[in-house]
Amino acid sequence: METIGRNDACWCGSGKKYKKCHCQFDEKLKELQQEGHIIPSHDMIKTPEQIEKIKESGKINIAVLDYVAEHIKAGVTTQQIDDWVYEQTTSRGAIPAPLNYEGFPKSVCTSVNDQVCHGIPSEDVVLQEGDIINVDVSTIYHGYFSDSSRMFCIGEVSKEKKKLVDVTKECVEIGLKNVKPWGLLGDMGHAVHMHAVENGYTVVKEIGGHGVGLQFHEDPYVSYVSEPGTGMVMAPGMMFTIEPMVNMGTDEFYVDEVDEWQIYTDDGQPSAQWEVQVLVTEDGYELIAY
Ligand code: MF3
Ligand code: CO
Repeated sequence: METIGRNDACWCGSGKKYKKCHCQFDEKLKELQQEGHIIPSHDMIKTPEQIEKIKESGKINIAVLDYVAEHIKAGVTTQQIDDWVYEQTTSRGAIPAPLNYEGFPKSVCTSVNDQVCHGIPSEDVVLQEGDIINVDVSTIYHGYFSDSSRMFCIGEVSKEKKKLVDVTKECVEIGLKNVKPWGLLGDMGHAVHMHAVENGYTVVKEIGGHGVGLQFHEDPYVSYVSEPGTGMVMAPGMMFTIEPMVNMGTDEFYVDEVDEWQIYTDDGQPSAQWEVQVLVTEDGYELIAY
């Protein structure tokens, strides 16, 4: 940590004196670090101004997903969902973050049944009664990023698939309950993992959540297969996603060799994912996007 005088301006940009701003915060982090914990760097701590701007981005992300929720049904192609997302995002003055991100060709990820994530919208994928689909929306608004996803059941789905979708949502809710200032990310991830395991499911290890707000993907990496007592300290002002990928069968997966994006379960069994964007606050958390 840099040396900063008690009467100097705080590193957070508030304009307040350090001793009246993040001084105690830094002391608390230092103590936790001395106890052996991993602590966030200052650039992971969002300022109140940044938080306000990220919230505006989050509101658009929520509205786009609400639009999808109202219109998705059997017979719709995933390309149509992509068109909705592009239109609903750009008409609000925002940009779909996935479009051209590391070469991703579309505005949204649409992952159906055994697709774990990064499904590419296509005219050829027509939603059928009984399908489950994750629609993962990410928005850039005035340079600030938001990211959340929801599952949709198309018509009547099997009770096994319905349960997978419901338990995965519960996993995220349990994760949220475990977002506590000065708590550990590893405890949060462990609670998520346990709920999936208790229901007979597996959680993908290699792909997880991430810091978000000033960039699409920031540190830290957020795992949902973690050991209690480990992981980075959650400090007020940190912002990250909770987005476990929960599989009915094996947690093993493969990447489409041709497009190098789309990810599928090895055993062809279904996978579900819900994603929220959360801010750590002084007394808990605040939802930024869902
Ligand atoms: N939205 C995904 C996430 O939750 C990232 C997708 S990257 C993309 O992190 F390029 F496929 F959009
Ligand atoms: Co994400």
